[in-house]
Amino acid sequence: MSKPRLTTLPAWSALQAHFQNVSKLHLRDLFDEDKRRFDRFSLQFNDLLVDYSKNRITDKTLKYLTALATECHLDEAIQKMFSGCQTNTTEHRAVLHVALRNRTNTPVMVGGKNVMLGINRVLEQMQHFTEAIHNGVRRGFTGDKFTDIVNIGIGGSDLGPHMVTTALKPYWKEGINAHFVSNVDGSDMVETLNKLNPGTTLFIIASKTFTTRETMTNAHTARRWFLDHFGNNTDVIKHHFVAVSTNTAAVRDFGIDTGNMFEFWDWVGGRYSLWSAIGLPIALTIGMENFKQLLKGAHEMDLHFRNTPFEKNLPVLMAMIGIWYRNFFAATSHVILPYDHTLRLLPAYLQQADMESNGKRVTIDGESLDYDSGPIIWGQPGTNGQHAFYQLIHQGTQMIPADFMIPLESHNPIGEHHTILLANCLAQTEALMKGKTAAEVARDTPDSLVAHKVFPGNKPSNTILINKLTPRSLGSLVALYEHKIFVQGVIWDINSFDQWGVELGKQLAGVIEKELESDTPVGEHDSSTAGLIDYCRKHMP
Ligand code: F6P
Repeated sequence: MSKPRLTTLPAWSALQAHFQNVSKLHLRDLFDEDKRRFDRFSLQFNDLLVDYSKNRITDKTLKYLTALATECHLDEAIQKMFSGCQTNTTEHRAVLHVALRNRTNTPVMVGGKNVMLGINRVLEQMQHFTEAIHNGVRRGFTGDKFTDIVNIGIGGSDLGPHMVTTALKPYWKEGINAHFVSNVDGSDMVETLNKLNPGTTLFIIASKTFTTRETMTNAHTARRWFLDHFGNNTDVIKHHFVAVSTNTAAVRDFGIDTGNMFEFWDWVGGRYSLWSAIGLPIALTIGMENFKQLLKGAHEMDLHFRNTPFEKNLPVLMAMIGIWYRNFFAATSHVILPYDHTLRLLPAYLQQADMESNGKRVTIDGESLDYDSGPIIWGQPGTNGQHAFYQLIHQGTQMIPADFMIPLESHNPIGEHHTILLANCLAQTEALMKGKTAAEVARDTPDSLVAHKVFPGNKPSNTILINKLTPRSLGSLVALYEHKIFVQGVIWDINSFDQWGVELGKQLAGVIEKELESDTPVGEHDSSTAGLIDYCRKHMP
């Protein structure tokens, strides 16, 4: 029996009718009418407080949204993912990043095998390795202790470890620096290498496939740089290069001893891989105990997601409120606003996590969607964004749902900085929600300026307060977003775990790369692309 289309479900129709009423309501009035709105629409989970009261929702909205989740068999989809079913249907793979942080160690079976055995083996390997680097048992070729770690990877093999390593800077071990090279633009590599001493540098080549053009190009350049310093002695490679991959043969071909390889598995999606050995640069900078705390925080969120009724389930609530805006208010984007300098890479990380997962146009069965799927994710840390793009969020013509987040305790308390930061974060959520009416503006403004100074308000946001940004609370926060993305994928009936949309550009780049290097006539292209290739060939140095 074929699945009913999303737009034919009873809860969808109920939401459509309900939207006609709610779209006319102003958040100001909803707060005025219900003094307990914050208590009723906020939830605490360990070190996180999630306030979703400043959303354009009523009790009925949540009732219909959770009914929609039920009608989409969300519960079944969650249990299937956790139990190792082939959730990634187009690649015939299980989706088990949750097993990587399964700290209770209950068996998780894939193809008749308990994947926890492999996971625990690699965690132990990471533990030995990080300890050996930290205590100097493992040293560079010249006998020096390692001081610098360079992660070479891109996409999920870069963004997750880079974001977490940056966010957890206060936990960095003394004497170790981390660097991330992702872009095939030579400037990324050259600028990094210029800062480094080869004798004390460890390279991690991180690539699930070990075929990604950018990563392999950067890896070969690093290898060349290294060998140039050590008189082409390939023996040194085994001291300074390790790999994280699922592709043992390619790692060996590159010249890395498989004893220096950290394995992961095809059921770990690239953008969900920071919990695997892809997290090695995290463990090397903050230590294995802290890395395990990160896993613990994520695992706690996993248990909450798996076991909590939808009405109190944070990832489900955030996802369904996102659906409300995307599919009923037609919001095209969603902004991520961390008020924390160390979380500055979170928007970029969530761009890949969300947009590569839910930027899909067909259902799991390959039928065109007749509703919108994933929004554009963007953002910057506060307060910087306030002085750049908040103007449009406050007074532009679009409604842009926002997620604010801020730790209450700063790792760098100095003067009044943190109070100012916190005040700004809370003030923005209030300003967006309340706005400022023409009557309020007119009290101290000439008539000619009133329209310009009005803030319509009614702009929705979530606020996530984090007691302190620790490995554990960060783990919970990231897992919260991962599951939000999963839930939305289930509602939209799309495969959130493939990424075919990145393939075409890769293939064409392969063709054009060859054409740029040859003198033979440019091949089959449209006149624009052919003209550009031709111009490049004539003008390239
Ligand atoms: O091109 C997209 C992508 O496949 C991402 O999904 C992935 O995270 C990234 O490239 C890197 O892939 P790999 O880890 O195989 O080098």
